Amino acid sequence: MNLPAAVRIVEVGARDGLQNEAAIIPTSTKIELIDRLSACGLTTIEATSFVSPKWVPQLADAAEVYAGIRKAAGVSYPVLVPNLQGYERARAVGVTEIAVFAAASEAFSRRNINASIDESIERFVPVLKRARGDGVQVRGYVSTVLGCPYQGEVPLADVVHVAQRLHALGCHEISLGDTIGVGTPAKARAMLRAVADAVPMSALAVHFHDTYGQALANILACLEEGVAVIDSAVSGTGGCPYAKGASGNVASEDVVYMLDGMGIATGIDLARLIDTGLWLSQALGRQTSSRVARARAAA
Ligand code: HMG
Ligand code: MG
Repeated sequence: MNLPAAVRIVEVGARDGLQNEAAIIPTSTKIELIDRLSACGLTTIEATSFVSPKWVPQLADAAEVYAGIRKAAGVSYPVLVPNLQGYERARAVGVTEIAVFAAASEAFSRRNINASIDESIERFVPVLKRARGDGVQVRGYVSTVLGCPYQGEVPLADVVHVAQRLHALGCHEISLGDTIGVGTPAKARAMLRAVADAVPMSALAVHFHDTYGQALANILACLEEGVAVIDSAVSGTGGCPYAKGASGNVASEDVVYMLDGMGIATGIDLARLIDTGLWLSQALGRQTSSRVARARAAA
């Protein structure tokens, strides 16, 4: 076993979580969420998404959200960017870290961003070039790594190929996304191993949606392979508007509880994170999806 001593959590709730809410969340609530998260000790908080507001109206206020958050020292606030237009909008409000996103499945790529995988990567070339010149760090997502809502099975070779291309283009970190949460531990492990043959493990992150209740088991399998960066969303919000049936991301509270129990450092204050998740679920008008938060609230 190859367990890391410390893990960096990439909190994606403010982006992956809120992009999928049926109701439009007030900008002030988004800002308060992000500020509460930085106070919990999270060091990477994905803040929002500069995609087309016609496609994702929930995050049409990206510029206001980014401009409004307290930029805590030592905290990164990356944002999603699909093209140069998004890059320019993000830079206009002072963004210094971005994430681009491609899919391992051709069918998902077309539904999610109206482009083939090749076209999407071509779109990123000028974005990465500009980012390099501006000193902006770029993360790369590969989605549908363990299955696609339109295509079904996704060959491992396709996942490896897209991850390798994004890394070669200059993405400092590649996040491997089980967008619809269908993966199981042996498959997650095999997928990570295959990608790690092409991209160094130190540049990889895992991103599990918990649709089938497999996320923590999958994360454990990937930790055993040596991954040390995990994406999660406080209160277990999330999904992708273009992946029908994709439910929430794994809850950050549940991941931190598991890591705490395993003696793996995160630097995150679990009690404060639970409070933040309960505050968010109240703001969204529904129960938290975090099992840990529910257990603590009932205790
Ligand atoms: P398109 O319609 O093919 O693009 O969308 P277009 O270039 O033809 O532009 C159409 C209109 O959008 C134009 O406006 C553009 O100006 C505008 P019009 O002339 O009609 O008035 N536009 C923009 N406006 C603001 N900001 C922009 C922008 N770009 C174009 N950046 C596009 C192509 C990629 C833009 C669109 O498909 C899009 O925004 N898709 C985003 C979908 C999305 O956000 N999905 C969820 C994120 S991915 C995810 O959740 C998975 C992940 O979590 C990992 C995992 O779970 O696996 C990351
Ligand atoms: Mg996601």
